[in-house]
Parts: sequence; C-alpha cells; structure tokens
Amino acid sequence: MITEKAPGKLYIAGEYAVVENGHPAILVALDQFVTCQLTAAKHQTGRIISRQYQDIELSWRRQGDQLVVDQRDNPFSYIIQAIEVTEAYARSCGRQLKMFDLTIDSDLDSDNGRKYGLGSSAAVTVAIVKALCRFYQLSVTNEKLFKLAAIAHFTVQKNGSLGDVAASVYGGWIAYHSFDRQWLAEQQQAVDLATLIDLPWPDLQVEQLPRPQQLKLLIGWTGKPASTSLLVDKISLFKAVHQQEYRHFLSDSRQCVSKLTEGFREKNLSLIQQQIRANRKLLQRLGSLSGVSIETPLLQKLCAIAEKFNGAAKTSGAGGGDCGIVLIADDQETSGLLTEWRQAGIEPLNLHVFFNHTTEEE
Ligand code: PMV
Ligand code: MG
Repeated sequence: MITEKAPGKLYIAGEYAVVENGHPAILVALDQFVTCQLTAAKHQTGRIISRQYQDIELSWRRQGDQLVVDQRDNPFSYIIQAIEVTEAYARSCGRQLKMFDLTIDSDLDSDNGRKYGLGSSAAVTVAIVKALCRFYQLSVTNEKLFKLAAIAHFTVQKNGSLGDVAASVYGGWIAYHSFDRQWLAEQQQAVDLATLIDLPWPDLQVEQLPRPQQLKLLIGWTGKPASTSLLVDKISLFKAVHQQEYRHFLSDSRQCVSKLTEGFREKNLSLIQQQIRANRKLLQRLGSLSGVSIETPLLQKLCAIAEKFNGAAKTSGAGGGDCGIVLIADDQETSGLLTEWRQAGIEPLNLHVFFNHTTEEE
C-alpha cells in the first residue's frame, strides 16, 4: 500500500491579483492534510472512497432545459482529473497502466463536514498525483509535481491562480507568481505531457521565504463556507466593466506583495505588518468597487479585534467567509484576543505552518 499526504494552505496576501498571469501572492502550508492510500487491485473495477465532505453539496443551475452541475465544488472532479493527468504522464513515460483502489481522508474539513476553506481541492489533487507517481515509479521533482497537479486542478476549476497547489507542494512560506494559463492551454494542444512538464512555464515563480521567527500566525474561522470559484467569477465580471480600476488594483497589489516579500526576506516585522494592513485596504476597496462581499461583517470584526491587540489582520483567500489571518509579534499576549474572537462567534484554529523537509533539503 502507498500512503501519501499533502498539506492545506492559507493565503497571506496578494489574493485576486494573483489570478492574473505573473502576479504574486504569499501563502503558507498548514499542518492539516489530505491523505491518500493506494492499493494495487487485481479486479477489473477500481474503487475510490473519499471521506472528504461527508455531505457533498453540488451547485447546479439551468441552461435552457438542461441541468448544469458546477463540478468545481465536487471533490471527485479533482480526484478523477489528478488520476487522468498522472496516468497520461505515466503513459508518455512508457508505463503500462494498472488497476488500483484509492481511499482518501481529509482533516481539512471540520468534524461535522463543514469546509474551512484551507484548500482541500488543491491538497487532494497533490496527494493523488504523489501517490500515483510512486505507484508508476515516476520520480518527480517538486516543480514537476506542481506542474502535474496544476494541470489537473486547472482543468476542473478553470479560473484559479494555482497558488494553493504550489503551497501544498512546496510547504512553508512561499511567494508564488502565477504562470500564463493561456500559454498552457495552447501548449496542451501542441505537445505531449512529458514535453510540457519539462518546459519552463512562462511567468511561473515559486520562492521559499525564510520562516519569520518573531511572528506568530493566528487563524480565525468565521464558520461560514465560501465558494472561491464563484467569488472569482464575480471579480472577473468587475474586471470587464471597470478595466481602469482593475488595472490599478493589480499594480497596487503587486507593489504591496513585493514589499511584503522584502519584509520576509529581511525579517522586518514592522514592514510585514504594514504591508498586511495595506493589502487589506486594497482588498476592501476591490470589494466595495465591485460590490463583492470579500470582507464580511464577521471578518471585519475578526480584524478589528486583532488590531486592538497590535496584530496586523486581513481576510484570507477569496474572503466572503472562511478564515481571516493575523500576523502578530511572538511575545504579544493573545489570550484576550482569542477570548474576544470566541465571544464574537469566531473560532480560533490551532494550526501551524507545515514545512516540507524534502523541499528544504533540495
Ligand atoms: O479562498 P481561497 O483560500 O481559496 O483563496 C482564493 C484566492 C484567490 O486569489 C481569490 C483565487 C486564486 O485562485 O488565487
Ligand atoms: Mg476561501
């Protein structure tokens, strides 16, 4: 039996802008995992058992008289794509395909099946690609693993930056620049998968940042799940109608994340906190210009409480619910902050940054 696991993630800064090619974001991997167990099967029918999302909820709408299901919220879509992409790669490396059973488990979803928004679709994709690479004895670097998982994830979600896949592959704190997905789509038609994986991908950059020693990361969960893909769709509509404002947002965000990255490289706590606050403002403005509720009233409360205790706080990821994050000096007393969060209906998540040791040694 092969067991592989992949961590969840949180966005620290650069959200929405990172969806555009070459724009940066900062993310962390967290010590919560999707685990995948793979056993070779002798029978003609393979089985996939997923304990992820006990109560799967699918969104659907009508297109004429047709029922159209939104596959982007269906964890099985990511599982199937991860298998298809890795097997296509295995075939192009001359491997014979085999039957297997998969069992998937996740601690990225709360006990009662609610979604924390910690990137379980990216983590499940990465865990399966890893397990299948071992099954077919394909030795892959982190870069290749990222590329395979990114192709699988992008095929399902279509509008994401793939930063969550990068965080899940590399671990720790990363600065991620999204690659040119139009280029990828064109090349997918032109070259085989093994060639595509070997090519350098335009704009793609992943930089591992030093651990910020004097900083703590606090995470608050609002209890309300949000759909990243629907929120990104809405911002994409705003982009079409308000091109000028959108361009401003992109350049401001790029500048902010680049200063923030500098803050991490130099271990400059006050620069880091300053840029977290600046990024929050940019996202608040994007939300109010577009009418998209990125910072919900509860996320606003989460930030206000953290700021009272000298924490630099903001929404994480697409917002609209899910989690908020706080970067706060290591020696700052936080029990009062956590109590106030709980009183406001915000659940502190006791999670830590996960460092992938194989990556650190590379
Ligand atoms: O809400 P999350 O944690 O899935 O983050 C989404 C971040 C966006 O930049 C809004 C979208 C993306 O794919 O990068
Ligand atoms: Mg989210």
